[in-house]
Amino acid sequence: MTSADNARVPRHIAIVMDGNGRWAKLRHRPRTFGHNAGRKAVRNVVEACLRQGVKVLTLFAFSSENWQRPQEEVGALMELFVRALDKEVDELHGNGVRLRFVGDLASFEPGLRQRMLAAMARTAGNDALHLNVAVSYGGRWDIVQAARKAAESVARGELRADEIDENLLGHFMCLADLPPLDLFIRTGGECRVSNFLLWQLAYAELHFTDTLWPDFDEACLKSAIEDYARRERRFGKTGEQVATKA
Ligand code: FPP
Repeated sequence: MTSADNARVPRHIAIVMDGNGRWAKLRHRPRTFGHNAGRKAVRNVVEACLRQGVKVLTLFAFSSENWQRPQEEVGALMELFVRALDKEVDELHGNGVRLRFVGDLASFEPGLRQRMLAAMARTAGNDALHLNVAVSYGGRWDIVQAARKAAESVARGELRADEIDENLLGHFMCLADLPPLDLFIRTGGECRVSNFLLWQLAYAELHFTDTLWPDFDEACLKSAIEDYARRERRFGKTGEQVATKA
């Protein structure tokens, strides 16, 4: 791969992993069967990102709204997260992956939360791939927690309210220390953002595919990256300005 090709690989990809339930239904199996297959797809896509040179992968595993699903499905997803943590962290660590959970971690039961914190601490020194798993996360929640932190700084007298601008508030958002989001992918055929990374999506390229998440593999990832590489990112400028780097 030349460095020119490399420049066309998004540094930061985020994925809404949709379609597990429909994938299971097509096979006359329960939804949890689909979530288990989805877990295998996560493993494949993490490995594919390492091979393709993607630096940051952010996955939407459980939204703030997903707590409203039937109790049985929520319980099964929690069990799946525990099993995934127990089984996958060694290998992720061995591959140099830094694992981070983003979202309202306080809403999880203490045992699971402790496992998440331990996995984050264990992999904190890794840099080959930053894998962010959004759990009990919502884009509006993220903006609210950032606004709250800014307000607390004002209350402590560390900051004046008129100093709060986009740049400053951006520093309080989740993932602020990582490269900006380049490519957003949603599987499963729906063309919506569903309250994921609202702030961070401002200038991301969007890629929607009908492929159901358990079927999403390295070829699908490469096809999304190729689609991204064909886009001209202007960030509000004209095509001519971008061409002359004005
Ligand atoms: C959406 O499909 C998927 C989820 C709500 C859960 C995502 C979880 C995984 C992929 C499991 C593994 C994750 C990790 C990080 C170990 P859906 O249930 O909404 O599918 P549907 O739209 O077909 O009903």
